[in-house]
Amino acid sequence: MTLAYLNGNYQPLAETQVSVMDRGFLFGDGVYEVIPVYARKSFRLNEHLQRLRACLSTIRIANPHSDAEWQAIIERVIASSDSADQQIYLQVTRGIAPVRNHAFPADAKPTVLVMSDPLLPPDAVLFARGVTAVSAADFRWLRCDIKTTSLLANCLLRQIAIDAGCAETVLFRDGILTEGAASNIFVVKDGLLLAPQKNHLMLPGITYDVVLEIAAHSGIPYVVRDITAAEVKAADELLLTSSTREVLPIVALDERPVGDGQPGAMARRLAAAYQDFKRTVMYSQP
Ligand code: PDD
Repeated sequence: MTLAYLNGNYQPLAETQVSVMDRGFLFGDGVYEVIPVYARKSFRLNEHLQRLRACLSTIRIANPHSDAEWQAIIERVIASSDSADQQIYLQVTRGIAPVRNHAFPADAKPTVLVMSDPLLPPDAVLFARGVTAVSAADFRWLRCDIKTTSLLANCLLRQIAIDAGCAETVLFRDGILTEGAASNIFVVKDGLLLAPQKNHLMLPGITYDVVLEIAAHSGIPYVVRDITAAEVKAADELLLTSSTREVLPIVALDERPVGDGQPGAMARRLAAAYQDFKRTVMYSQP
């Protein structure tokens, strides 16, 4: 039976409960990570824990665990699941306060939750066909670099895609590409891979970093810079990346084909390299 971890205890998810006074419930006052697990090994754990540390520090919650402690908790949750490939969800909130008050509680203890779901990476058919997307104005706040559990805007934006029968909403702020509702976005033009530059308007994705590393190792030319809406419209290829969706080609945006409307050469190359990277790093280890 898959176990969830809550504040020092491991139990089935159905028996895992937090107080309604938890700041995560009342204010969305917390941060989270989604960590892919392949062959029972977490992928890029150090990088996820580093981003967690940075986000906790930004929102002024003391990190409740050392990296070694986080690893031990995550490994125990992974071991309890039947699935070899999983997605670990980890959340830290500011904890339980005696009264509802925006001000930080004086001495609340952070609430720590770690749970696991099976990870079903996009299947080959989805990859071969690509996915469709819509665009929308990015109406989120100005600290999208914080991986906060306050995801109302992201949910509203993702739902625009779902309602249109699409997989993702591509976001623009002041005419510049930021990211997807729950993914990072790359553009390909004339064989050049373009990536939006990391700043406070987008989440610094772990998969984003892996893709740029792969590009560097494979001799794929890439540039990190602001990308305009006009450039996205004129792109040969668009790609989305995330820990759960890996690397996926976007073949239509706002009902118009991207390039020739088929997954392009760069998408195929990067996605294959990502799978190779995963296999080499994860499956070949004891
Ligand atoms: N989301 N941007 C946003 C807004 C995201 O929510 C995500 C991932 C990413 C990609 O980050 P990474 O490569 O580290 O997964 C970018 C996760 C998967 C989620 O909320 O479920």
